[in-house]
Amino acid sequence: MGVAIKAEGLTKRFYQRGEVVAVDQLDLEVMEGEIFGFLGPNGAGKTTTIKMLLGLIFPDAGRAEVLGFPAGAQEMRRVVSYLPENPYFYDYLTGGELLDFYGRLFGLPSAERKKRVDQLLDLVGLRNDKAKQLKQYSKGMMQRVGIAQALINDPKMLIFDEPTSGLDPVAHIEIRNLIESLRDQGKTVFLSSHQLSDVELVCDRICILNFGKMVKAGSVGELTSQGRTEITAKGLSSDTREKLAKLAGSVVEREGAVVVTVTDEASLNTAVDMIRAASGVLISAIPLRRSLEEVFVETIGLAGPGRRIGTMNTLTQDRTA
Ligand SMILES: Nc1ncnc2c1ncn2[C@@H]1O[C@H](COP(=O)(O)OP(=O)(O)O)[C@@H](O)[C@H]1O
Ligand SMILES: [Mg+2]
Repeated sequence: MGVAIKAEGLTKRFYQRGEVVAVDQLDLEVMEGEIFGFLGPNGAGKTTTIKMLLGLIFPDAGRAEVLGFPAGAQEMRRVVSYLPENPYFYDYLTGGELLDFYGRLFGLPSAERKKRVDQLLDLVGLRNDKAKQLKQYSKGMMQRVGIAQALINDPKMLIFDEPTSGLDPVAHIEIRNLIESLRDQGKTVFLSSHQLSDVELVCDRICILNFGKMVKAGSVGELTSQGRTEITAKGLSSDTREKLAKLAGSVVEREGAVVVTVTDEASLNTAVDMIRAASGVLISAIPLRRSLEEVFVETIGLAGPGRRIGTMNTLTQDRTA
């Protein structure tokens, strides 16, 4: 697997009633074929980073490569698609006309365009809405037609800026499934979001941005696992319980069963061996996880003073206030 995005020291400052370092010395590595979650509260610098990756604005320092091309290069634009945060489409067009229009922009010949438009409308579940004007589309339908539009040139990589913000739960699931199907086709997806639940379910790796700086990165599994496992067993003698208590420290009784919490793999194996050797009944061994939201609040909560801490969806940082 090659590297899809590589950024080093990417920095962008804005001057507006003082200086704002929107993106601060950001290093980023996204692998080909993965769904990468780019997380952070409002104002963290996500959109600014995306614009630099696309070459829509220029960094004050640092550099970025996308699919092996310098950010913003013509060759890069042919293989990367972008769905902005608030896409604007001429809403008197029908869904079919919109996609046809973008197909023309990319120079697809008429017959191919026709085929491609129908394929894409199928893919995003808008086949029956092809002839409806966009002004009759719901917000979820607009996002889906936006994704179809971004796919018209069969890009290798897609960059989505907050594709699920403002959508209802059903539309969320639809967009999520759609994004997963893109990965299944081998495409790289760079997904900016402040909706943690989406990201947790769909992303291979994530990074969390706050005040323009990366404050956490890793696979969702790594970030949410605590390395602790809760083992439940029955039919243990007091002798075995004592041994388990020595091993694990924490042994409690729950509904007639013994619950042991171990903190590493070696103790997990030893505990299971003890239970088996004592002819106990092993009921379950469950890894304990935190939600990504807990990880996020913990991370952002530690990052600076004077901030309201809540769930990420409600967390806002107005740095110009
Ligand atoms: N064109 C601009 N002029 C001045 N400040 C800006 C501009 N664009 C973004 N900013 C500031 O940069 C910071 C990062 O913004 P942005 O990248 O839009 O964050 P996000 O997409 O994570 O919500 C914010 O403090 C924002 O106010
Ligand atoms: Mg943004």
